Amino acid sequence: MTAQMQISADLDPVSFRAIADLAYRESGLTLVEEKSSMIRSRLRHRLRDLGLPDFSAYSALLQSEQGKGELRYLISALTTNVSHFFRESHHYDTMIGEFEKRLPDLRAGKPMRIWSAGCSNGQEPLSAAMRLIDHTPTAGSLDLRILATDIDSEVVQFARRGLYPERLMGGVSETLLQKYFSREDLGESEPFFRALPSLTSLIRFNELNLLAPWPMTRRFDVIFCRNVVIYFDVETQRRLWPRLHAALAPDGVLFLGHSERIADPGAYGFDCTGPTTYRPIAS
Ligand SMILES: C[S@@+](CC[C@H](N)C(=O)[O-])C[C@H]1O[C@@H](n2cnc3c(N)ncnc32)[C@H](O)[C@@H]1O
Repeated sequence: MTAQMQISADLDPVSFRAIADLAYRESGLTLVEEKSSMIRSRLRHRLRDLGLPDFSAYSALLQSEQGKGELRYLISALTTNVSHFFRESHHYDTMIGEFEKRLPDLRAGKPMRIWSAGCSNGQEPLSAAMRLIDHTPTAGSLDLRILATDIDSEVVQFARRGLYPERLMGGVSETLLQKYFSREDLGESEPFFRALPSLTSLIRFNELNLLAPWPMTRRFDVIFCRNVVIYFDVETQRRLWPRLHAALAPDGVLFLGHSERIADPGAYGFDCTGPTTYRPIAS
């Protein structure tokens, strides 16, 4: 038993390469050799649960027909899902500016669409919804929708449930907490907070791999794609920029994360109009 545990704890270079290549092909995640111990520790328990002797057997499973489902588990284990409410709050100020510009049209029945691409546990779309409803309490009656997507099925499920332990509520003021969340005591060491329908009714959560085809046909007025492409290599980023450009309305705005940038925005039809803020160049 001990010997078996010992073997399964080793992530040999060949298995590492096979797993990293698979993750790259499936999700764009770039896993460098230095991440080997992180991968090993994230997957070790999985090997034990599956009764596999080592990473070589795990890598063989992933590449087999019956390993298709396991691929989702792998991607979920390898993604980094850290997020916060009102992260990089200046983007939400800009979003409100876009909302204000469109309010007369919205009141006349026209749609406004926001996309949180790589929404993780849902703090990003919920922050957007709080800002919108706080600005215009009747926003829920307008044709205003937030699409929130992520490749990781586990975070999408979590976000859809909308139930957050207190430790994830940082950034939400007491006033907002009382207005938009109900407190639930689940008998755990900390209270939980459930997002109210006034927020969640604005949001649709779906699984979506940014590298796969996108089923959405309508263009977005605002796209949040923050702290996602940082895990992609330059090639994958370059393939994504034109797709985000095509998904954005001509007067729309794209937000990236604080350490992300489009190196040559003009080449992709974007103008950088603020910190990590991009707009299509008028044609
Ligand atoms: C660090 S979180 C960012 C969450 C949020 N956007 C923010 O800025 O707080 C990155 C998210 O990107 C998702 N992700 C990674 N690769 C993806 C892909 N190929 N398609 C869609 N989502 C992806 C991960 O699952 C993760 O939830």
